[in-house]
Amino acid sequence: MIRYVAPSLLSADFNNLGRDIEMVNHSEADWFHLDIMDGVFVPNISYGFPVVEHIARLAKKPLDVHLMIVDPDRYLEKFRDAGANILTVHWEACTHLHRTLSEIRKLGMKAGVSLNPHTPVELLDDILPEADLVLIMSVNPGFGGQKFIENSLSKISRLREMIDRKGYSTLIEVDGGVSTSNAAKLYAAGANVLVAGNAVFKAENPSDAIRLIKG
Ligand code: DX5
Ligand code: ZN
Repeated sequence: MIRYVAPSLLSADFNNLGRDIEMVNHSEADWFHLDIMDGVFVPNISYGFPVVEHIARLAKKPLDVHLMIVDPDRYLEKFRDAGANILTVHWEACTHLHRTLSEIRKLGMKAGVSLNPHTPVELLDDILPEADLVLIMSVNPGFGGQKFIENSLSKISRLREMIDRKGYSTLIEVDGGVSTSNAAKLYAAGANVLVAGNAVFKAENPSDAIRLIKG
C-alpha cells in the first residue's frame, strides 16, 4: 500500500521558504502540501498565486494544493497554471462536485475531495470514481498546530472499506494533528498520504521527522 508524507508549508518559516523547500526536496517526503484559505470558507487567510508560483519554481516534488475556499470552480485553471499537480476541493464548498472534479481532471491534474470533521465518508459513495484522492480533515480546517480529532480514525477505516470493496485506487489523505506518535496508527487504519505541518517544521530535525512519520 502507498505510504506518502506531504509536509504542509503553512508551518514553514516564510522568511526562509527557499531553505525549507530544499529540505523537503532532499527528504523522504513525497509531495508538498499547500493550504489555500480565503477567510470565508475558513476563518483564516493564507497565501495565493504568487506564493504558489514561487514554490513551484523550487519544488522538485508534486504540489498537492488544498483549497479551503468557497466557489473553487473560479480558480481551477489558475491553480493549474501556478503549478498544482493535485487539486483538492472541499465537499462542503461544492454544489456540483461531479462537474468540479471532472474539470480538475480535464485540466490535467489529479482531483481530490476533502471532508470536514463533521461530514460522513458515506456521502462520497456516488462520487468516488471521480476522485483520485479523498482528504480527511482530522482537525477543523483553518490553522496548523491543532489537536487530532480521534473520530477521524473510524472515518479512515470506513472509507478504506468503501474503496477496497469497489476495487478503486483512490488515495486516502489525512490532514491535521498528524505526528510521529499517531502516524503508524493512521497508515494501519488505511491512510495513504499523511500531511504534517507542525510535526515537521517545528521539529528539531525536520527531515528526521519526515522519515519517522513515514515509518
Ligand atoms: C489546516 C491545514 C493543514 C495544516 C496542518 O487547515 O489544512 O494542512 O497545515 O497542520 P498541522 O500538521 O500542524 O496540524
Ligand atoms: Zn491542508
